[in-house]
Amino acid sequence: MECSWKTVLLLVCASLGVQYTAIRTLRDSLSVPCPGAYSCQGRRHRESRLLCDSWPSPDLPRRHILLFATTRSGSSFTGQLFNQHPEVFYVFEPLYHVQQAFTNSSSRVRRMLDRRALLGAYRDLLLNLYTCDLHFMENYIHPEPQEHMTSSLFRRSSSHALCSPPVCAENPDTVLEAPDESWCPKKCGALNFTLASVSCLSKGHVAIKTVRVPEVGDLRTLTEDPRLDLRIIHLVRDPRAILASRMTAFADQFRAWKIWNATGRQPRYVDLTQITSTCKDISASLETALQRPPWLRGRYYLVRYEDLALNPKDKTEDIYRFAGLDVDQRVLTWINKNTNSNNGSPSDWNYKYSTSRDSRAAAESWRLRLSFDIVRTVQNLCNHTLSLLGYRPVHSATQLRNLSQSLVELRTFQPIL
Ligand SMILES: *[C@@H]1O[C@H](CO)[C@@H](O)[C@H](O)[C@H]1NC(C)=O
Ligand SMILES: *[C@@H]1O[C@H](CO)[C@@H](O)[C@H](O)[C@H]1NC(C)=O
Ligand SMILES: *[C@@H]1O[C@H](CO)[C@@H](O)[C@H](O)[C@H]1NC(C)=O
Ligand SMILES: *[C@@H]1O[C@H](CO)[C@@H](O)[C@H](O)[C@H]1NC(C)=O
Ligand SMILES: *[C@@H]1O[C@H](CO)[C@@H](O)[C@H](O)[C@H]1NC(C)=O
Repeated sequence: MECSWKTVLLLVCASLGVQYTAIRTLRDSLSVPCPGAYSCQGRRHRESRLLCDSWPSPDLPRRHILLFATTRSGSSFTGQLFNQHPEVFYVFEPLYHVQQAFTNSSSRVRRMLDRRALLGAYRDLLLNLYTCDLHFMENYIHPEPQEHMTSSLFRRSSSHALCSPPVCAENPDTVLEAPDESWCPKKCGALNFTLASVSCLSKGHVAIKTVRVPEVGDLRTLTEDPRLDLRIIHLVRDPRAILASRMTAFADQFRAWKIWNATGRQPRYVDLTQITSTCKDISASLETALQRPPWLRGRYYLVRYEDLALNPKDKTEDIYRFAGLDVDQRVLTWINKNTNSNNGSPSDWNYKYSTSRDSRAAAESWRLRLSFDIVRTVQNLCNHTLSLLGYRPVHSATQLRNLSQSLVELRTFQPIL
């Protein structure tokens, strides 16, 4: 037992050594400091400590945070809680490019070419980003980057590190106007992946937000990877709210739902599969987590967006405690500015992905924006998910609109230990 552990660790550290050499070469060639660049975590085993003592800053454990969410579940807002931290290298949905590369764009109905291979590619990219090899992204970007440069990185402006020195000469903090989605590529020019890797290495921790991994079980090999200290924050939200938000953000795709909402009659061609699979994925993850498998211990924390919206500061502290990091003052300042509507903070700078709004009111507003008929349909499709997460169903239109009755049951979800 002991022996096989040592063998495994030796192998792991040997393979790490190869990667570390590559990183050191990159670092040396650029001669920048990189605190805590890469520490062999070895999951608290003394043998690994000894083996890895010569690694940079072993006393500064590098955290790998995954904000694991669903489209329109409040993940842009929640991602900011990490993006604002000066020691966190934050990347917003890097898997977008992988999905694009795996989608057959020539067929009339765009579809995935191979789900298993896609999930494998997702994990590969996440692992490479967590270890600051940003060049790995280049494989999936279209048009193909030239000289390690691209102008096509998806939502680059959402990442503080990719829009500030050394990657960009401008600093977003000096941009007085609230930045919009296009400011960063405009001010900073094409993205240099080598500089992005350098920036990543210079930060203590990496956080990634994605809405493209279906279930937590799809992340298992990453939680078991001894090179990572992965902390999964599973962000969930009331599926009825998710639907209302998608109807607003993706109006074209949800035209049939909007007709249904406006006329009170369900069109025959309305597509129920998207919301159904969202609910199925959430409950599948939850059921996996409830079994407390060893590979999730210390690595999984379920967060309801509504709880975060109601109590942003306390919940942020819980999230950071789970991640094993201290909340930075910049994070608290950002929360104060962006969760309270009557303080003159900038109004919606990008409607679709805005995070500047009264988070508490926004979390409940779906109840005034969906017809009761639609709500009842979603409740039937998602009844299991609703009950697992503690969201109450409504039984009449009056009850739906009566905001003094909360539909969010008081529940405490603890990290899996
Ligand atoms: C993409 O879809 C088109 C049309 O359905 C099909 O002819 C083609 O073979 C597909 N390509 C791949 C790589 O599957
Ligand atoms: C990207 O940045 C690296 C490191 O500063 C530099 O050596 C390289 O020339 C840059 N690439 C381009 C195309 O400017
Ligand atoms: C649904 O209809 C109501 C009333 O007609 C409207 O106020 C609301 O904005 C609509 N919701 C969406 C998501 O379009
Ligand atoms: C959900 O609905 C199904 C079918 O109507 C029912 O069998 C099941 O018990 C319901 N589950 C919950 C948790 O309410
Ligand atoms: C709204 O709910 C509250 C609390 O359950 C109740 O006291 C009140 O009568 C309800 N209002 C309406 C208009 O139904």
